[in-house]
Amino acid sequence: MLSCSLLTVAPALMCGAQTSKPAASDDTPRLERRGQATQLIVDGQPFLMLGGELHNSSSSSVAYMKPVWPRLAAMHMNTVLLPVAWETIEPEEGKFDFSVVDGLLEGARANNLKLVILWFGAWKNTFSSYAPGWVKTNIARFPRVQTSDGRDTERLSPFSTAVRDADARAFAKLMRHLRDVDGERHTVLMVQVENEVGVIPQSRDHSEVANAAFTADVPQTLMTYVEKHRSLLNPEFRAAWEEAGAKTRGTWQEVFGKTPLTDDLFMAWHYATYVERVAAAGKSEYPLPMYVNAALIRPNYEPGQYNSGGPLPHSMDVWRAGAPSLDFISPDIYFNEFAYWASEYARPGNPLFIPETQGGVTGAANVLYAVGREQAIGFSPFGVDDLGNSPLDLVGITNPGERFDNAAVGSMYLTLSRLEPLVLKGQETGALSAAVLEGDAQRAARTFVGEYIANVARAGAPSGARVGVLFIQTGANEFLVVGSGDAMVTFTADTPGPAIVGIESIDEEFFENGAWTSHRRLNGDENSQGQALRLHASDVTEGRIYRVRLYRYK
Ligand code: DGJ
Repeated sequence: MLSCSLLTVAPALMCGAQTSKPAASDDTPRLERRGQATQLIVDGQPFLMLGGELHNSSSSSVAYMKPVWPRLAAMHMNTVLLPVAWETIEPEEGKFDFSVVDGLLEGARANNLKLVILWFGAWKNTFSSYAPGWVKTNIARFPRVQTSDGRDTERLSPFSTAVRDADARAFAKLMRHLRDVDGERHTVLMVQVENEVGVIPQSRDHSEVANAAFTADVPQTLMTYVEKHRSLLNPEFRAAWEEAGAKTRGTWQEVFGKTPLTDDLFMAWHYATYVERVAAAGKSEYPLPMYVNAALIRPNYEPGQYNSGGPLPHSMDVWRAGAPSLDFISPDIYFNEFAYWASEYARPGNPLFIPETQGGVTGAANVLYAVGREQAIGFSPFGVDDLGNSPLDLVGITNPGERFDNAAVGSMYLTLSRLEPLVLKGQETGALSAAVLEGDAQRAARTFVGEYIANVARAGAPSGARVGVLFIQTGANEFLVVGSGDAMVTFTADTPGPAIVGIESIDEEFFENGAWTSHRRLNGDENSQGQALRLHASDVTEGRIYRVRLYRYK
C-alpha cells in the first residue's frame, strides 16, 4: 500500500483524519463568464452538459447500476445526475462509508461519463426520507416541521441547528472524500444541495422556534440586499414589498404584508440560510459549483400547496441574499411552458441549468431552445435509467405521456455533441439563437438570426409534438440549422437596406468520418422552390442538419 506521504491525493479512509488537507487542483470545475455566457469549465475548457438524471434510488446500489452505465453511455449523454443519500454515507452517527460513492465513481469513469451528485440530505421533495435512521427516529434531538395544530410532519425543521449542523457535517465529509478521490480526475463536476426543498401542506413551519422567528424582524442582511438591488428584484417580490410600504425594517408581515406569500418568503429565507451553511461547509472542503433545484408552481396554487420556501422565481432574491455560496438556482421543468420557465431562471448572475425535465421528443426540442436561446450550461431529462418498468408506475405516479424516449434525446445529444465546439463558441460570441413551438396551439414563432429574422411555423399533420430549432451563425449570411420536429422556416430582413431575403442555398449535412459533410443540395420541392427550409421530425434520429446561405435583394 502507498504511504500517505506518497499520495498526491490521499484517500481519507486510508490515511485518517490527521492527513493534511490536499489542495484541490487549480483546475477544479468552475463557472466562468466567457463573452456573453457563463459556462461550466472542466479541465480548463468550456463543457456543455448533455445530462440525464437517474431515478431516486438507482444509485443506492452499485450492483443495480452495473448494467445501467453502458445504457446511459449509449444514449450519448456525457453526464449523469445521481443522488448520494445521507443515510448511505453515514448509516451510524459519525461512521462514514463511502463504498457506494466510490463504486459510482468507478462505474462513471469506466463508461466515460461525468457526474453531478445530488445531496439527498435533510430534504428530498420537502420530506426527509433519505435522512439516516438515527436522525429520523430521534425527534427530540432532530425536530420536525409542525402544522398549526402542533402535529409533527415527516419533514426535518430548517429551524433546527442540530439538524443543520449534522447535515452540514455529513456533507462536508462527502465533499472532502470527493476531493481526496476525485480532486484530480474531475469525474464529479457539480453538486446539488438537497432536493426540491420547501414545506407542505401548510405555508410555513408552526413550531415554537419558527413562530418566534416569524414575529422577529426580517434579518438585516435581507433588507440590505433588497434595498441595494431594488431595480433588479423579481417583479412579484418587489411588488409585495412596495405594496406593504417598502419598509426597511419590521417583522415579516410588516415588511412584506399579511399574505400567504409572506409565509413563503419567510420559509425561503430559512431554507436558504440553512442550505448556505451546508453548502459553505462542503465548499470549504472542495469548492465544486453548487446549486439548488425548484419544484415549480402549478397555476393558482397557494404556498403550502406548492413547496413553500422553495427557490421559486418570486423568492429567488431571498435565496440569493441568504445563500451566497450557491452558484445558481435551477428549475425542474416538467410543465409544457418550457420557454417561460427557462427565462424565469436565466437571469443575470444565474446561468440556466435544468437538472430535471421531460425527455422524449419534447426534451429533444427543449434542449435546442435551452442551449441556443438561454445559453444553458446543461440539460437533464429525469428517469433516464427507465426501461419501462419504473417503480413510479407501481404507485401510479408516472404519466405515460412523460415517459423518456431514449431514441429522441439520445439522437439529439449525439448531434449536439458533434456540434459542441460550435455551440459553446456560439454561446460565448452570441452566434446562437433558437425557437420552440410548444404544442399544436402554437403555430409559429420568430427569432433573430444574425441580421435576419427566422420565422418558424408548424408543417405536416398536427401531431401535438413540440418543435425546436437551433440556429448557429457560421458567417454573415450562413447558418447551421438543427431541428426537432416538422416545421417550415422562412427568413425575412431585420435591418435597413435591401429588404427581401432570398435563400442562396440549402445543403443537408451528416457527420461522417469526424466532419460535417454535405449530401444533397435542396433546391426544388424540398425547399419550396427556394422559399423555405423544411425541417423533418426524422432529422433527429437520422442526424441531419442543414447549412443555409441567405442573400438580400430589393
Ligand atoms: C421531482 C423530484 O425532484 C425527483 O427526485 C423525482 O421525485 C421526480 N420529481 C419524480 O417525477
